[in-house]
Amino acid sequence: MSDTTPDVPQDAWSGVHRGPLREGEWVRLVDGKGRKHNFELVAGKRFFSNKGHFDHDELIGREEGFTVTSSAGGEYLVFRPLLSEFVVSMPRGAAVVYPKDSAQIVAMADIFPGARVVEAGVGSGALTCSLLRAVGPHGRVSSYERREEFADVARRNVTQFFGGDHPAWQLTLGDLAEALPASGERCDRIILDMLAPWDCLDAAADALLPGGIVCAYVATTTQLSKFVEAVRFHGGFTEPAPWESLVRDWHVEGLAVRPGHKMIGHTAFLVTARRMAPGERAPLKKRRPAPGAYGPDYDGPRPPGVPELPEAPTED
Ligand SMILES: C[S@@+](CC[C@H](N)C(=O)[O-])C[C@H]1O[C@@H](n2cnc3c(N)ncnc32)[C@H](O)[C@@H]1O
Repeated sequence: MSDTTPDVPQDAWSGVHRGPLREGEWVRLVDGKGRKHNFELVAGKRFFSNKGHFDHDELIGREEGFTVTSSAGGEYLVFRPLLSEFVVSMPRGAAVVYPKDSAQIVAMADIFPGARVVEAGVGSGALTCSLLRAVGPHGRVSSYERREEFADVARRNVTQFFGGDHPAWQLTLGDLAEALPASGERCDRIILDMLAPWDCLDAAADALLPGGIVCAYVATTTQLSKFVEAVRFHGGFTEPAPWESLVRDWHVEGLAVRPGHKMIGHTAFLVTARRMAPGERAPLKKRRPAPGAYGPDYDGPRPPGVPELPEAPTED
């Protein structure tokens, strides 16, 4: 530890450290071709690659942000992994929420220090790390996961990132639709990242406090449509807001300034809606639905204010 700058206090539960690298910490090495290597620093251990080797002891005790050269001349940039880097390199059970979407969720679902947040499913624990960062040690993140093997992966990942058992985290094995009502917990925010979030909407509505936010993360347009219509049909929420984010990198080199080739296009859609107070209804949309929006081919729930279609005449 440097004399003047103390480490980030563990009771902040940030998952971040400052000062010289210590045994037991994870580091992320990037070689000249951009290949990444993540590993735990262990005194006496040796790192091997196609460019030879070096000892972990050469890294321990140094301030991050340096280049180490292996026995065969390979150069590696050494830093501690950021949260956004950790979640895309950690072991996965299920697909993870990517950092661009975690950032959207934290901002648009308004996750705040001290918040009580419910999420399901926990999957690999990527979103969980961002939620815990945002609520801090005085908030609460209750994660529900119905598959034990995924819950185990998430537990390992979250514990590794925060360097211990985060005091605001609670992980329950079970289906949210049953386990959440059974728990009796109430919350400020609910994040649903699962195949069928509409199946959990009643449980989410009962647990959410008035003014709270439900946020769903869904991969396909059919899921998006089904969830949005289910929220409208429920009636206890404001008009749902669906969107997606696209992140485009740029190549900037002298006079060559152009969009890069590695755009992160579609990952998933997000939807948020706010919980009304008990017995209150949001005003109906003033705009008429687009022609055919709820025509004969539509077979989902019909939102309040959208009349049923007349029965088609039968041929005798
Ligand atoms: C895409 S993964 C979640 C990824 C996670 N958000 C992350 O960032 O790592 C979806 C998870 O939801 C779980 N799941 C699906 N339906 C569920 C339900 N009704 N209750 C609890 N977990 C559920 C699945 O088992 C799966 O692990």
